[in-house]
Amino acid sequence: MARKIMIFDTTLRDGEQSPGASMTMSEKLTLAHQLAHLNVDVIEAGFPFSSPEDFNSVSRIAAEVQGPTICGLARTREDDITSCYEAVKHAEKHRIHTFVGTSRLHLEKKLRKTAEQVLQMAVESVAYAKSLTPDVEFSAEDAMRTDLAYLRDVVEAVIEAGASTVNIPDTVGYTTPWVMEQTIRYLFENVSNIGEAVISVHCHDDLGLSVANSLAAVRAGAGQVECTVNGIGERAGNASLEELVMALRTRADQFDAYTDVNTREIVKTSKMVSSFTGFAVQPNKAIVGQNAFRHEAGIHQHGVLMDRQTYEIMEPQDVGWSETVLTLGPRSGKHGMRKRLEDLGYEITDEQVDAIYNRFIEVADKKKQVYDEDLEIIMRQATSELPETWVLAGLGISYDIGKQPTATVRLEKEGEIYEQTGQGNGPVEASYDAIDRIIEIPVALEDYALRAVTRGKDAIGEVTIRVERNGDGAMGRAAGTDVVWASAAAYLNAINRLIIRSGMNERPNQDTP
Ligand code: KIV
Ligand code: ZN
Repeated sequence: MARKIMIFDTTLRDGEQSPGASMTMSEKLTLAHQLAHLNVDVIEAGFPFSSPEDFNSVSRIAAEVQGPTICGLARTREDDITSCYEAVKHAEKHRIHTFVGTSRLHLEKKLRKTAEQVLQMAVESVAYAKSLTPDVEFSAEDAMRTDLAYLRDVVEAVIEAGASTVNIPDTVGYTTPWVMEQTIRYLFENVSNIGEAVISVHCHDDLGLSVANSLAAVRAGAGQVECTVNGIGERAGNASLEELVMALRTRADQFDAYTDVNTREIVKTSKMVSSFTGFAVQPNKAIVGQNAFRHEAGIHQHGVLMDRQTYEIMEPQDVGWSETVLTLGPRSGKHGMRKRLEDLGYEITDEQVDAIYNRFIEVADKKKQVYDEDLEIIMRQATSELPETWVLAGLGISYDIGKQPTATVRLEKEGEIYEQTGQGNGPVEASYDAIDRIIEIPVALEDYALRAVTRGKDAIGEVTIRVERNGDGAMGRAAGTDVVWASAAAYLNAINRLIIRSGMNERPNQDTP
């Protein structure tokens, strides 16, 4: 009989840990609700002891998100585990996930402890966590570079101490599918109490093998896979949720296993993660890339027209892609717009409809034809809950032959208007110069990307940027038919995020008009 494979989503913990991917509290909450719609089994919501922000977001997710088990990460320390429990305890189903490194490198270089001491730490932590909640997961960090006999002893001991899930991470993405398969089989054959826990894997993608390694573990008996949406995570990222789920479903003949994921929510979740983190999805990315179901070559197009299966192994609708339909224009009404968004799978509250419709009409007046992709961007902009400290109130650009372009920027903050001019090699740089002169919080522009969201000369351009200040990075995103305006708005969006995160709300020199 087919086995159920638990999907443990760590987008909000390991995913959010990747440099520059940090999300605001309200984004984390929205994403957690979406992960519940996707029907994952476990949401690892954060690392509560690591910061008060993480503690608060894990607590809110635990209190508000229904369905999946809400899990928090903790080191093998009592204060860490207690804080984790305090954060997750609000959830009806909650889990404490505690971990310690077990490879020789971790023991000798990082922990400076003997194998016996680390085994003892693991056992005591699991026993303590178990005294707080019945659902305890233990991870042997760097398991795939750990001596096998020692790994067996650790797994057996933590199960004995009460771990209900034991995770075997490939922390540095070093293993290969056949070694992973052998390791999991070895544990099943040599750990006497293995039947009392679910064996999990957590693979990183340093060699691009994380999904293959996770699937190999499933073949060997693993009952849980840990993954992130779009594969985001430390360094090269984690195993991608969408690839794992669709591989298990499309090649069920190879695994005799299934997941409970609602695959039709995949594309929507992927777009949300990309929008919140600012990490664009590459066009050729499996399942969620824009080209994943597009056929360019004439031979392929001909084949697909005769029978889709000639060149397609999955139905695009099964993962949530909809045919792009030209639906709306400046004369479309509020009901038509709402209906289209609902057809695309979005739940809109009555309060949100007006804000979305106002923005929709602004765009439709300029663009005349509003595509589904435009509509999704409009909705995300209008429903963004990021408090905007600084708002772009006006932008004028002037060019003179032989001179650098000049930008005049007007910003609004708490009802007051500030205006400055700036210069640069192009209009975007000039607008950033003017913004810097007003806000006086110097940031470094680390990354700038512009892409057309839909087709045609009047396509909406989406600008994604990343800024950094004193080692703290933030992404910003904005879209519009005027890409210079969108560039300035994206820059402000990133600065607003930095301000919220670091609490630096001061404009040092208040005498500039
Ligand atoms: O990669 C890793 O080993 C981890 C553990 C904390 C599970 O993220
Ligand atoms: Zn990890």
